[in-house]
Amino acid sequence: MKQDRILLPTRGIRMTDAMKLAAEHGRAWRSNAVRPMGDGANVRAIHPTATLEALREAFGGPLPDIPQEGQGVIRDLIAAAEPGLVGNTDAGFHAWVMGASHPVGVAADWLTSAWGQNPGIYQCSPAACTAEEVAAGWLLELLDLPRNGSVGFTTGATMAGFTCLAAARGEVLRRAGHDFDELGLAHAPPVKVFVAEDTHVTNLAAIRYLGIGNRDVIRIATDAQGRMVVPLLARSLSDTEGPKIILATAGHINTGAFDDFPALADLAAENDAWLHVDSAFGLWARAAPDRKARTAGLERADSWSTDGHKWLQVPYDSGFAIVRHPDAHARAMDMTASYLTQSPEGGRNPTQFSPELSRRARGFAVWAVLRALGREGVAEMIERHCAAAELLGDLLRDLPGVRVHNDVVLNQLAVSFHTGDGGANVTAAMEERLNLDGRYFFRTASWKGETVLRVSVISRETGVADIRALAACVDREWSAIRTT
Ligand SMILES: Cc1ncc(COP(=O)(O)O)c(C=O)c1O
Repeated sequence: MKQDRILLPTRGIRMTDAMKLAAEHGRAWRSNAVRPMGDGANVRAIHPTATLEALREAFGGPLPDIPQEGQGVIRDLIAAAEPGLVGNTDAGFHAWVMGASHPVGVAADWLTSAWGQNPGIYQCSPAACTAEEVAAGWLLELLDLPRNGSVGFTTGATMAGFTCLAAARGEVLRRAGHDFDELGLAHAPPVKVFVAEDTHVTNLAAIRYLGIGNRDVIRIATDAQGRMVVPLLARSLSDTEGPKIILATAGHINTGAFDDFPALADLAAENDAWLHVDSAFGLWARAAPDRKARTAGLERADSWSTDGHKWLQVPYDSGFAIVRHPDAHARAMDMTASYLTQSPEGGRNPTQFSPELSRRARGFAVWAVLRALGREGVAEMIERHCAAAELLGDLLRDLPGVRVHNDVVLNQLAVSFHTGDGGANVTAAMEERLNLDGRYFFRTASWKGETVLRVSVISRETGVADIRALAACVDREWSAIRTT
């Protein structure tokens, strides 16, 4: 009796009913557009509507003693989760650089879960490993990076950066005569990492995970766009002995700016430094012929970390650690054990390129989105987002008291709003009003001492019409603030 109760709900028809409900509901959820507050039923909010207390209550309750019926579990999950979801798949989401999970990627991801594959080594899932191998080749081609480079599929740019920097750490130490694999960091000469003073916080985390402390992180001042000041970097490099890594940025989080890559690549060569580029979203400019020139020189780097779940719109989680030197990459990540046997056919062993053994078969969704968009689809989307950001910059710059802080070179804007003779910064009030509209999701940040509204144009479908509507909304709300 007890046995029946345990087995039945997770077997056969009841299980497929749960999957069917999830698929139908997911499809309907993605088809419902976000609407302004109070405008019609059967729509969903771009902002969470539930409080933390309500969410805790909805998800809460005791851990069940006995198995629950599958469809009911999924129904309860939907009811508990949806009031707490954020509409980052919607065209009006501009707060952070987050992609919109392409529907074909979502479909591939559903299959990935259904198939339950583990791409640790080729023999665990020849299909998953081969999809990854092919997608890796397509990425190198699309991004025009060294075709014989290696690509690790990671959770995101944070772990992609970690992976690339692990390869860098091992290699610069090896060049300095230190056998890292044998001796670790003990007795190693300190590895110095040169970063922009406002490098993305995840880079500092990755450096720390690698056992490199603040004392060995050399922060280089940046210009108004967030680019490292090259003469300062040059001086700092020449004043520093020992193994060196330069950590540059393509696509600054607030401004979208690109470091001066030709100069940085020269400096890396002169100083025998490894050049790594955090290009979580900026790397995708290389896939858009009209934007590619902005990345010139970046291809001379040793490694690049980027995301699939940002501009490529692959569902979470998806990042890529791309390394010019596959040997250094594999040395940093490799795991060998007698039971993890190589395929006699010589297929890809993904564990050589990312810091995990068992993990999601991330390659399927990447392969599917690259096919669904194709080279032209990716280029069109990147170009459209960049053109939309430029247009928004032009429209906002004309408004009285509005300051666009950055040169709009990519998809990012940093905007502040000022009232009165003293020009008081009232950007937080504008953020609140725009969010109350219900179509938009915004957040502010502090940039070079000013509170700015960060505008990322990254959601898959966002286009010129959305941006014109947004500019009209900003105009209306800004007039209301100025006249009160
Ligand atoms: C420039 C930059 N680097 C790194 C990251 C970290 O990426 P992820 O959140 O995918 O790990 C981000 C995320 O916003 C970013 O914008």
